[in-house]
Amino acid sequence: MHRIKKLAVLTSGGDAPGMNAAVRAVVRSALYHDLEVYGIERGYEGMMNGELKKMTSIDVRNIIQRGGTFLRSARSKDFRTVEGRQKAYSNIEKHGIDALVVIGGDGTFKGAGVFSQEYDIPCVGIPGTIDNDMYGTDFTIGFDTALNTVVESIDKIKDTASSHDRTFFIEVMGRDAGFIALQAGIATGAEAILIPEVQGQEEKLKDFIAKQVELNKTSQIILVAEGNNVGGAQEVANKVVDKFENLKIRVNVLGHMQRGGSPTAFDRYLASRLGVAAIEALLDNQRSVMVGYKNHEVVHVPFNKTIKGHRNINKELLEVANILTI
Ligand code: F6P
Repeated sequence: MHRIKKLAVLTSGGDAPGMNAAVRAVVRSALYHDLEVYGIERGYEGMMNGELKKMTSIDVRNIIQRGGTFLRSARSKDFRTVEGRQKAYSNIEKHGIDALVVIGGDGTFKGAGVFSQEYDIPCVGIPGTIDNDMYGTDFTIGFDTALNTVVESIDKIKDTASSHDRTFFIEVMGRDAGFIALQAGIATGAEAILIPEVQGQEEKLKDFIAKQVELNKTSQIILVAEGNNVGGAQEVANKVVDKFENLKIRVNVLGHMQRGGSPTAFDRYLASRLGVAAIEALLDNQRSVMVGYKNHEVVHVPFNKTIKGHRNINKELLEVANILTI
């Protein structure tokens, strides 16, 4: 079996806190095993444009605590084309690179899976997205930090909500998944949580607000995951405003501040473990797998399973949120 000698690492898709810690772990672990390692800038875009640089241990010094990704990131349309991938391959071939570590979400893994098959090059993926929506891992790098950022922001908004007897509709990220909304909702005691995984929430929400009004609750937090079926926070607020004329409504969209900031201890730890595991997986001749984290252990999940599989929301958590809002 061919032993890899030179690999490259990239970050792709939405940045997530802890990506730098993951790159650091990949680079240092590769060097530890006497492998040469390159960093590719701007994800697959940079791979197509030849934006590669050889990495040393010093290049990843003092980045474990930094948010974002110092390699930068992009969402690449061209890499989805045969021509784009051909361009990318010729650039890594030029440098003699014989393996890839990709850090990102399922779009990133989809690209790596196709590329690996077309050019017979081993690729290992590390899950990095604040959404925590990847099948096969309990946590993705960045989720814990984003969750804590959201909780901190909601706590602050609650100060105003209770001081002014207001109802806040707060929108958090999660295009396809409600993990941030659900867990932040439980952690902040939100009165209602709207997530993409649950249908028919509009009517329920009206009944629920009516109940809170009856209970004389003077302030409320309605948490809205961006991909929910009713709409964004403003739309949701518009749908209930006529029914509750006495409510003093305000809308807050937390936006990209959720993706930034210094990673939590957990995200740094997770990124470090998975970075080391990714190199071990490559040396073990694994290809087209994600290194994930399940029940506190590192696991290896084939790309096609993580891409096709759907990570379900834990229904018990919905029940917990419901019980605690009486
Ligand atoms: O996938 C991570 C994520 O932050 C989603 O929650 C969000 O819908 C999306 O990225 C936003 O992407 P962009 O930064 O490209 O607008």
